[in-house]
Amino acid sequence: MSEKKNPLIKFENIGKRFGRIEALKDISFSVFPGEIVGLVGDNGAGKTTVVKILAGIYKPDKGKIYIEEEEANITSPEEARRAGIDFVHQDIGLAEDLEIRRNIFLGDEIVAKRVGPIEFLDLDKMSKGTKTVYHIIGITSDIDPKTEVSELSGGQRQGIKIGRAVYYKARLIVLDEPVRALSVRERGKIKNLIVDLNKKEGISFIYITHNIREVYDVAHKFVLLDRGIKIGEIKKEETSVSRLEESIIKGELVSP
Ligand SMILES: Nc1ncnc2c1ncn2[C@@H]1O[C@H](COP(=O)(O)OP(=O)(O)OP(=O)(O)O)[C@@H](O)[C@H]1O
Ligand SMILES: [Mg+2]
Repeated sequence: MSEKKNPLIKFENIGKRFGRIEALKDISFSVFPGEIVGLVGDNGAGKTTVVKILAGIYKPDKGKIYIEEEEANITSPEEARRAGIDFVHQDIGLAEDLEIRRNIFLGDEIVAKRVGPIEFLDLDKMSKGTKTVYHIIGITSDIDPKTEVSELSGGQRQGIKIGRAVYYKARLIVLDEPVRALSVRERGKIKNLIVDLNKKEGISFIYITHNIREVYDVAHKFVLLDRGIKIGEIKKEETSVSRLEESIIKGELVSP
């Protein structure tokens, strides 16, 4: 018999309310090491609320999160990052008017020396680190690490965020609508990057989208949400794109 691994992350009976809106009701699911989970549902399903609870931005009213079987009490994205969980959103996460290398090391700058209260940054080391990030995400063209983020394409930005997460040793990367604003070609590249990092580095992903077709190829398993309720969880080999789409429309899991 094959060895059963423990979950990397486990959500257990998570509940969250905003006034009269029950954003999440009794949500439980796990992400196993090396697993890509598609967290799917229409607008307002509660997908982003799950992420914000994992990032410690919202405190759940109910339920627990376990990291490798240990109850976790995450109160900020920085804390999550230290536990090996990183987040990539569509719009936020990079400072537009800063150089790429400054972005990679934002809040974690490499200091060459300190004179009194003044810190001198080791920009050369930060450039080297940036090139390591390029290597991780497979950028071959030579983008100068001094380039401002505002000059990058949407796909390059998403790549940099994912690469930065890997550079900081993320074991789980949560992607919230990561390709929403990207061209078809750039979408393809981000997809390949996710599959590649999963295969080569064993990194787990939670991939959030309202569009099943976008995540179907890359995910191993799907968790379906509808207005705060988990309507089902199913492995890819037990379903199909059309059954998943039908499930989202009906608000209940359509099995074969
Ligand atoms: N800070 C908040 N205050 C009040 N209501 C909120 C807040 N955040 C989320 N909600 C509500 O909770 C519900 C779930 O929202 P959430 O953003 O998690 O959905 P989502 O699945 O990410 O949707 P989308 O596809 O539009 O991003 C919605 O009804 C939303 O209006
Ligand atoms: Mg959302």
